[in-house]
Amino acid sequence: MTTATDPLLEQFLADHAAERLESYKELVRIPSISALPEHAADCRRAAEWIAADLERSGMDHVEVSETGGHPVVYADWLHATGAPTVIVYCHYDVQPVDPLDLWTSPPFEPVVEGDRILGRGVADDKGQLHLHLRAIEALLATRGRLPVNLRIVFEGEEESSSVHLDRWLEANRGRLAADFALISDTGFFDGNIPSITVGLRGLMYAQIDVTGTAVDLHSGSYGGTVDNPANALARIIAGLKDGDGRILVPGFYDDVVELTEEERERLRELPFDEAAYLEHLGLPALHGEPDYSTLERRGARPTLDVNGIWGGFQGEGAKTIIPAHAHAKVSCRLVTAQDPGRIFAAFRDHVLAIAPRGVRVEVRDLGGGHPSLTPIDHPATQAAARALAATFGRDPVYIREGGSIPVCATFERTLGLPVVLLGFDPPDQRAHAPNEWMDLGNYETGIRTIVRMWDEVARLEPADLGG
Ligand code: BES
Ligand code: MN
Ligand code: MN
Repeated sequence: MTTATDPLLEQFLADHAAERLESYKELVRIPSISALPEHAADCRRAAEWIAADLERSGMDHVEVSETGGHPVVYADWLHATGAPTVIVYCHYDVQPVDPLDLWTSPPFEPVVEGDRILGRGVADDKGQLHLHLRAIEALLATRGRLPVNLRIVFEGEEESSSVHLDRWLEANRGRLAADFALISDTGFFDGNIPSITVGLRGLMYAQIDVTGTAVDLHSGSYGGTVDNPANALARIIAGLKDGDGRILVPGFYDDVVELTEEERERLRELPFDEAAYLEHLGLPALHGEPDYSTLERRGARPTLDVNGIWGGFQGEGAKTIIPAHAHAKVSCRLVTAQDPGRIFAAFRDHVLAIAPRGVRVEVRDLGGGHPSLTPIDHPATQAAARALAATFGRDPVYIREGGSIPVCATFERTLGLPVVLLGFDPPDQRAHAPNEWMDLGNYETGIRTIVRMWDEVARLEPADLGG
């Protein structure tokens, strides 16, 4: 399925195939879990590994740059006089690996099975980061230059809401001048159809803490006289959403921009097999707002979901108590033009308004990010479409993804940059779950697509890009 770029570059890639796979595995072996403090040194090690790789390839100003959290890897190559400049973003951090017993092989010991490589981060997002490294290496080795100017921004906190990145971007604004940003952290459409993502949802993440007495109570001695924090929490959660998936927080939908008829039509045209989707999930039925299709609900409608709920007795057998406290983590996926800060405030106010009187309720903001919509007709998006078409032998489809990449909106809002989301993950890659895998065909073809992308962008005038 791979079509050749230029002969010298193809020869280089062919000569280095084994080395490339070994290097990919080496990066995956570093357990750079950003959420867990005990892996902070591993995050730094991953950053240093990447910096050394960029240095070897011949990039300039390679730096493991401090953020206050896990470092950003910055590098640039700015010798393509007159050609556009692009910021390339990927993340080297990964999600935690639990539940460990469901992995068929250890998460940080990557293995190749047929066309697949298995391991934490092989798809999200180390595989994509690594294919950029290999495209840069191959271009500099065979041509001695890049077709465009690149500024690399590889971060280590994406899976933890990129808490320090916005400030780093502000502080480094001076060396981030570019015509657009390219993010490789998305994937292909169902059926592994090459895709360009043009919509990402935002996120609001909160924790609800319900507290009763200082210690658990005997449920016989006190039952009927006091409220129960777990019951109270259940009543609160029941008051957040109706049975059809409509969110009951007042004002929640105020800023939601509805899909246009044309956008709905475009979603209807995607080759989506709802029966196969349901079968793959192994569920008795799908669920959500009845007036919207499954793809509309996934890409263009906001959500509210309980991510975790705990409290009281969890052991074997029976223990008759009224628990002292109960908790839930609740998140909302947001769409244009919902604002995570305003949604948190509306959510908190609603929870406190419906909170039962006999318990204490606290609501905490655990972070989030803005939604984003990127333009299909932007010349950089169209360059990506041509690069995909030339490499995969078919035109890409344009999709709206349900997931979030907080930096996407920051690039647009803070740096004023258009963003192209060009990613290569297979659609069912088990990101964040046990047995995450990457399609090695997508990875290899991804390298060629990136090479073609830079060649395509080199043909654009900075003026075409609005620069
Ligand atoms: N690569 C994903 C984002 C993504 C998910 C893109 C699904 C396309 C489809 C990213 O690494 C991710 O998991 N983001 C988090 C963000 C959160 C921690 C702020 C997410 O979406 O939950
Ligand atoms: Mn990711
Ligand atoms: Mn992720």
